[in-house]
Parts: sequence; C-alpha cells; structure tokens
Amino acid sequence: MSAGCKCAVKMPATETNRERPFIIGVSGGTSSGKTSVCQKIIELLGESSAIKGAQKVAIISQDNFYKSLSKDEIKLAECCQYNFDHPEAFDTKLMKATILDIVTGKTIKIPDYDFKTHTRRKDSYEVLHRCDVVLFEGILVFYHKEIRELFNMKLFVDSDADTRLSRRVLRDITDRGRSLESVLQQYTTFVKPAFEEFCLPSKKYADVIIPRGAENTVAINLIVQHIRDILSGGINRRSNGHSPNGH
Ligand code: C5P
Repeated sequence: MSAGCKCAVKMPATETNRERPFIIGVSGGTSSGKTSVCQKIIELLGESSAIKGAQKVAIISQDNFYKSLSKDEIKLAECCQYNFDHPEAFDTKLMKATILDIVTGKTIKIPDYDFKTHTRRKDSYEVLHRCDVVLFEGILVFYHKEIRELFNMKLFVDSDADTRLSRRVLRDITDRGRSLESVLQQYTTFVKPAFEEFCLPSKKYADVIIPRGAENTVAINLIVQHIRDILSGGINRRSNGHSPNGH
C-alpha cells in the first residue's frame, strides 16, 4: 500500500476480465470515512466465492492530484489562507487523463503528494498496472461532469459534521504536521464553506448514499452484492455506456 494507490489486491476474477475496468467513484466530506468504505468494499469483495480466478482491485485518492503550490502559495497555505477545498486546487486535467487511461486499461502513474510541503514529490509516482476494479475517492470527484461520467457507480459517504471535524483534527495533527489552531482556522475559513458550496451539492449525483460510513455494514453489504452481480455478469456493466443504472 502506498500514498498514491492506497490498495492493490488480487481477488477472484470473472469472465469479464478483458472488459473495461469497473470504476467506482466514492465522494463525501473530509474525514467522512471514504477510504474506510473503500477498504471494506475490497475486503468483502475478496471474500466472494461467486467469482473465480484473480482480479486486481485498487483505491486511488483524488488527494494525489492536488496541484503543487508555488513558493508564494506555500506561504499562504502556512498561514491558512489557501483554499484546498476549492475545485481549482486540483489538477483536473491530469485526473481526467489518468481516469481515461484506467478506462482503456493502460498502466498509469499516480503523483505522490506531500501534505506537509503542499507539493508533489519530484519524480515520485505510484505505477499501477491495469486493474479490474478501481475505487476513486475524494471530496470533489463528482464535481466535474466530465469526471463523474467516467464512473460506473457513484457512492457518497455521509457522516455527520461533528464526527468529521473531530476525525480531521486528530488526523491533521498526527499525520499532516498541523497545529490544533491551524486545523480549526482552516476548517472554519475554507473546509466547511467549500463543503457546503461544492461537495454537498454533488451528493445528488450519487447512486447510493451511505450514512455513517464504514460502520454501515448493511449498506456496504448491499453495494458489494451488487458489484459481485455485475462482475460475475449477472447484471449488465453499463446500460448507457457510463453507469450500470443509467446515470
Ligand atoms: O482525505 P481528505 O478527503 O480529508 O482530504 C481532503 C482535505 O485535505 C481537504 O479538505 C483539504 O482541506 C485538505 N488539504 C490540506 N492540505 C493540503 C491539501 C489538502 O489540508 N496541502
């Protein structure tokens, strides 16, 4: 497991192996549990006995597609004056090109983003070979039509704001070298307003909304069962060229 591709595991394969990879977009606010939901889906898919052989599954994070900041922008970020929750903070062009390469089964290079320096690590990439199932997670993966249309299935992880803020505080202090004051200032100045302006409205594009995130085993089991049906050929992968349910 690495920063770029959070998970790449072998799981049972189907006869549909040679088809286009099945891409699942997973959105939700910061610290809503997107990665945990993705990991749970992979874990349960791996237990499937309905499918035989070996399939490769990966989780890719939109965070790896943050733009590298210039020196002046880094100064702004260091005093909580840079908005990382705005759609413009991401390299959408590269993200789209990467997803299109996944669609066509190409080997891709995922940038390696450093949350402490706010830049991509130079010449450092995660190389990911063709996958059968890809979970692409991030706060704004449904924001751009051209990106969300590339997903075969769209999930939105809906956790309450207090839970998300408390998780975010702990994570940013522990993993991202931030102070409590800076996390709270960034949250009230940018994270919360941008969630309401950009992320929350994109919930309407989801096929399934998962309340309470990874602890919602009923929802995750139902989703996994549906994915298994699709992978084993029981349900048509795409009814309109994009999504199995017509979105
Ligand atoms: O993993 P998660 O979805 O929480 O990551 C997105 C969050 O990372 C955004 O809410 C953004 O505020 C934060 N971020 C940051 N510093 C960066 C890049 C992103 O605090 N350099």
